[in-house]
Amino acid sequence: MSFNVYVTREIPEEGISRLRTVCDTVEINPHPRSLTYDELLNEVKCRDALLTMLSDTIDANLIHEAKELKIIANYAVGYDNIDIEAASSRGIVVTNTPGVLTDSTADMAWALLFSIARRTVEGDTFTRNGKFRGWEPLLLLGGDFREKTLGIIGAGRIGTAVALRSRGWDMKVLYTTRSNRNSMLEETLNAKRVDLQTLLRESDFVSINTRFSEETRHLIGFRELSKMKPTAYLVNTARGAVIDEAALVEALLNKQIAGAGLDVYEEEPGLKPGLAELSNVVLAPHLGSATIETRTKMSLMAAKNIIAVLNNRRPENAVNPEVY
Ligand code: DGY
Repeated sequence: MSFNVYVTREIPEEGISRLRTVCDTVEINPHPRSLTYDELLNEVKCRDALLTMLSDTIDANLIHEAKELKIIANYAVGYDNIDIEAASSRGIVVTNTPGVLTDSTADMAWALLFSIARRTVEGDTFTRNGKFRGWEPLLLLGGDFREKTLGIIGAGRIGTAVALRSRGWDMKVLYTTRSNRNSMLEETLNAKRVDLQTLLRESDFVSINTRFSEETRHLIGFRELSKMKPTAYLVNTARGAVIDEAALVEALLNKQIAGAGLDVYEEEPGLKPGLAELSNVVLAPHLGSATIETRTKMSLMAAKNIIAVLNNRRPENAVNPEVY
């Protein structure tokens, strides 16, 4: 087929090979970095399909310039980097990669919870710097998990997977959700649906798993952080702007909460001033889905979505089905 596909970053080969079996041109950004907006603008002209990263801004202007475009296949479950309304108004399908990254992202939330509560990063720095002089009774004391309360903000696919992992520690689970009650969590873990204020007040560990939208921007700010226990930990593997990062820096600095683990930031890859200097925060570079298995599945899923649309079939993962 004489289809022309552009892939904005190198991804696992499996998806690329799949695309090459059916498309004439599959071009990949050759740089080990994201394209600038202008470079991307230049590349989208004459393409039938774009395979984009969550770090690419696909706005109305870019969509307008992509006259031949039929599909934007985002290599992520989140798609807040894409102007969906603009895509839909041009009849362009937008797809994402749900499901395949649920477990690895939930694992990442727990990796951050453990790192911050058991102070593994501080311990690593301490040991490497030659400060370890032998066992000490009060050295780097952290927090236990057993029978504590875990609060899940956004008990969708990933939030549910985070909650289910708490079974090993017999934790009490509280959750918020914008949709229907999560009967699976309620039946399996006796989880309780509560309002956000109750969750923040009662939880020892809070995991943010809600989708980003204008509605959830700065969902956690000064007021919310002040509701949390001074012994509580907060982790975010969703989107950075769900937290007011400046407010979080203040809360960590003033020991208003015990610590935080972040995989995502308000203005990636930038960090709010002061964040990197704090010892009670663990910072990861957006690694939620970063396992070989998951990224391979994501590449295949994105490729299948593109192939379906180019063959006039409905893709499995359209986020704007209104285009049909
Ligand atoms: C996504 O796919 O949206 C996640 O942020 C990946 O970590």
